[in-house]
Parts: sequence; structure tokens; C-alpha cells
Amino acid sequence: MAIQVLGISGSPIADSNTDRAVKAVLKSTGLQTQFIKLSELEISPCRACLGCTESNECVVQDDGRSLAAFFRQVPAFVLGAYTPYSSLDARTKTFMERMYCFRHQIGGNAGKVGGSVITTACVPGAANLPAAAETARTQIGYWMMEEGMTDLGSLVIEGNVPCIRCGHGDDCKVSGIKMLYGPDATVASVGVKTFEGEDRLAAAAKALGEKIRDALQRVAPREAVE
Ligand SMILES: Cc1cc2nc3c(=O)[nH]c(=O)nc-3n(C[C@H](O)[C@H](O)[C@H](O)COP(=O)(O)O)c2cc1C
Repeated sequence: MAIQVLGISGSPIADSNTDRAVKAVLKSTGLQTQFIKLSELEISPCRACLGCTESNECVVQDDGRSLAAFFRQVPAFVLGAYTPYSSLDARTKTFMERMYCFRHQIGGNAGKVGGSVITTACVPGAANLPAAAETARTQIGYWMMEEGMTDLGSLVIEGNVPCIRCGHGDDCKVSGIKMLYGPDATVASVGVKTFEGEDRLAAAAKALGEKIRDALQRVAPREAVE
């Protein structure tokens, strides 16, 4: 059966919150889907060599070529990212850059519909913290706009600062736990946050999946991947 929605996660953590949320959105579409974890592939960033200008094919010989060929065929996607140093993670950015090869002369990314999942340790909306989720969401949104794709929305998940699981979270002088949650915060008081721990996130994932499904029913059918 043809794949209609591709899920892509930039999170390198095994079975991470980002992965599980992307999969939840995929499931809610009720369509044929496939999930790809970028950390399992070898992909380097765009070299700006313009070697793809005539062929619409990247000249960099890595897994980005087969991923691009797959992405070219699917009409919809869910892109999952996390926010190291309060911006979009490198793998997700690399993925976005490598899809540039389809732009020249044909605008080959145009017409796709997509949504994003952003996992962030910065509490979204907190006045004293960088707007990490908003930064990442905006970066993906602008990429979609510049490529003529339709952004159907984002799901923002409060994830875990790495210090929660490093083993030194309570005694480390530069612990992110205190930076994010205040001087009295500890590993125990903050706890491990999961996508499944908040009902509203499951509902939001379901809503985004259904939005993608509904949008696909409205756009002209494209040839899909078998
Ligand atoms: C090197 C590094 C730096 C990070 N810096 C930030 C940060 O500045 N802001 C933030 O919100 N999260 C930061 N994070 C935390 C990730 O966003 C967080 O681990 C996220 O919840 C991971 O999602 P996952 O469980 O889906 O992989 C950082 C993580 C790493 C590994």
C-alpha cells in the first residue's frame, strides 16, 4: 500500500518523547504511514554547491539521497524535533536543508502538507526562559512556507532536561534542573516527563493527525511510494 504520511524524528534518544508523539500523530491519520529516525541514518548538511540545480538530485553520497527520494513521493509528513541550546536540533535542520534539492525550477516540495512536534525542556511560556519551542516551531514553519508547503500546526511537548537522567542532577554545579525549575528543584521534584503523562497531548496529537488526514482529502492526489 502507498505511504501517504512520513513521520521523521530528529531526536537521537531511543523511543523518545518526540518519537512517540510523532507516531501518535501518524496513527491518528488513519492512513498508511512510515516512521524514520534521522539518527539511524548518515546525513550531512547541504553544502550549497548547487550540484542539484539541473538534476534536482543532491550530489552528496549519503542516506540523504534515498530519504529525499522518499520524501519527494509522499504528500504529507510530520516532522519531530527537539531544542538543544534553545533552537532546532541539528538533524532536523539537516533534513530540511537536504530537501532543498527539489526546489530548483520545479518547486518539488510545494503542495505537501505537514505538521511538527517540538519537544523542549524549557517550560513553554515561562517568562525567564528562552522561547525554545517557539523558535523551533517558527524555523520549521518558515521552511514550509519557503517551500510552498502547508503547515497544519505544531504539538509542543514539555520534555526532560538531560540532567534528569545523567546521574548528577542534584549535585552538579551547572545543573539544568535548577536553571529551568529554580534553586530548590531536584531530580525527584521535577520528575520524568512523558508524552503519555498529559491527556491534552494525546488529544492534540489526535487533532493534528486528523487535520493532516482531512487536508490530504482536499489536495490533488499525488503518486505515492509503494
Ligand atoms: C546538549 C543538549 C542541550 C539542550 N539544551 C536545551 C535547551 O537549551 N532548551 C531546551 O528546551 N531543551 C534543551 N535540551 C533538552 C531537550 O530539548 C530535551 O532533552 C528534549 O526533551 C529531548 O526530547 P526527546 O526525549 O524527545 O529526545 C538540550 C538537550 C541536549 C542533549
